[in-house]
Amino acid sequence: MRGTVRFLLGDEPREIAAVDPTLTVLEWLRGEERRTGTKEACAEGDCGACTVVVGRLDDGEVRYEAVNACIRFLATLDGCRLLTVEHLKRADGSLHPVQQAMVECHGSQCGFCTPGFVMAMYALYLNEDRPEERRIDDALAGNLCRCTGYGPIVAAARRMYELGDRTADPLADPAGTAARLAALRDAETVEVGSGDRRFLAPATLAQLEAAVADNPGATIVSGATDVGLWVTKQMRVLPTVIYTGRVEELRTVRDLGDALEIGAGATYSRAWAAIAALYPDFGELIRRIGAEQVRNAGTIGGNVANGSPIGDTPPALIAAGARLVLNRGGDRRTIPLEEFFIEYGRQDRRAGEFVERILLPKPAPGDRFRAYKISKRFDQDISAVCACFLVRIADDGTVAQARLAYGGMAGIPKRAGAAEAALTGRPWTEETVRGAMAALAQDFTPLTDWRASAAYRMEVAANLLLKLHAETTGADGTRLVGDGRLAHA
Ligand SMILES: Cc1cc2nc3c(=O)[nH]c(=O)nc-3n(C[C@H](O)[C@H](O)[C@H](O)COP(=O)(O)OP(=O)(O)OC[C@H]3O[C@@H](n4cnc5c(N)ncnc54)[C@H](O)[C@@H]3O)c2cc1C
Ligand code: FES
Ligand code: FES
Repeated sequence: MRGTVRFLLGDEPREIAAVDPTLTVLEWLRGEERRTGTKEACAEGDCGACTVVVGRLDDGEVRYEAVNACIRFLATLDGCRLLTVEHLKRADGSLHPVQQAMVECHGSQCGFCTPGFVMAMYALYLNEDRPEERRIDDALAGNLCRCTGYGPIVAAARRMYELGDRTADPLADPAGTAARLAALRDAETVEVGSGDRRFLAPATLAQLEAAVADNPGATIVSGATDVGLWVTKQMRVLPTVIYTGRVEELRTVRDLGDALEIGAGATYSRAWAAIAALYPDFGELIRRIGAEQVRNAGTIGGNVANGSPIGDTPPALIAAGARLVLNRGGDRRTIPLEEFFIEYGRQDRRAGEFVERILLPKPAPGDRFRAYKISKRFDQDISAVCACFLVRIADDGTVAQARLAYGGMAGIPKRAGAAEAALTGRPWTEETVRGAMAALAQDFTPLTDWRASAAYRMEVAANLLLKLHAETTGADGTRLVGDGRLAHA
């Protein structure tokens, strides 16, 4: 057991013993370190004003990622390197290429959003060489600006590559940082706290099993992109927090041959490429979950475990036939994912149990998979309806299998059993699909809320089946993606 949290603030080592388990990185930076360059606006991960860059060792190399400091708990930085906008300042007074580009392209007016943009751009600069426009848009979609307009900022993101050698960025210092972060690593559970409140960060799966079994009432935290808001928006006080992010076994994504094994602690960013390679539409869906800062922290395990009826990955995972591995003190059980969601706010997770892995089967020949996210904005928005479908068409043109999963249509992510029955065994024709559209009324009685009315939800849920049919029978140009290119054309 180690009683301190150790990390690097730039190049300065920090070792902290008494820390509130849910003190955010932003509160610490501004309140305790008096580093006020990092701004607070929404305090819920939506605006990017608080963006910082966190480096952590990943397979022996330092991986730098932009994250939202407002919903990241300080103690989760154990073993990491934290870079803030102040670190870009150079002793000789010259500007970092990211800053210089912002100046040259007039990327700042009131300046409130600017530190966040600069840090999101800095992470991009470190990780990718001259990305295409669509990628720049993705990397900046989590940052809001209310006065400059995005054109000059995107231009600055292009320009920064002409102003310096990104591979020799002295601040990043990959080799030196890797050695220093490796020295911070150990196999001990970290236990810190404040008063009678505790933060536990096990380093191994066995330690995590013991920690969750011994503290069944604790809050398990992975990326904190949900839990962080319980603290900053609902003012909840969490007595005991168990953080999964130090357990490497939980962060892995492995190809098992017939399935992809996704550790519950794998972030969206980490799992994205492997999932997209199997199910390209699932990849597009992930691109629209939060924004880069959220995807760098948030996990698929957290998205499943929270049991939200409007989480985006459960419909996709259910449609693809995913199974969930739950672990209690080393005893594992594996269930079809749809069985995990019992009713609104209630999941099949027993005391002392945690989500360990998700098993995503690979598509079979003849499988057609589509994912549709219906929301008011393209980026950084929560679904009104999320519909994910897998249909397997037999050689004779009939539907051998249909898995239709919806979010936003019930209190839980749910399959449309009646609509599936209306498709199965029938020819894959528009007439069959219209029968399934009618059957949806037996499957769902959606609610009206501020995202959408019940009538809208029913109509769009049905029409998406028609869209699925059109897209899988040769119609093109049925949808737009972020940069205006037609997908599936
Ligand atoms: C700005 C913003 C935008 C967002 N956009 C989207 C979006 O577009 N689509 C979407 O679906 N979601 C969205 N979210 C919600 C959130 O990012 C996701 O639900 C995310 O996947 C949660 O993962 P996490 O690791 O951050 O979970 P956490 O916040 O750490 O935990 C979430 C819940 O899961 C539990 N938990 C976590 N890990 C485990 C485990 N291994 N075992 C058991 N329980 C566990 C926690 O106790 C908690 O109840 C957004 C959030 C923010 C802040
Ligand atoms: S303050 Fe808005 S994302 Fe953190
Ligand atoms: S420059 Fe004012 S909000 Fe962006």
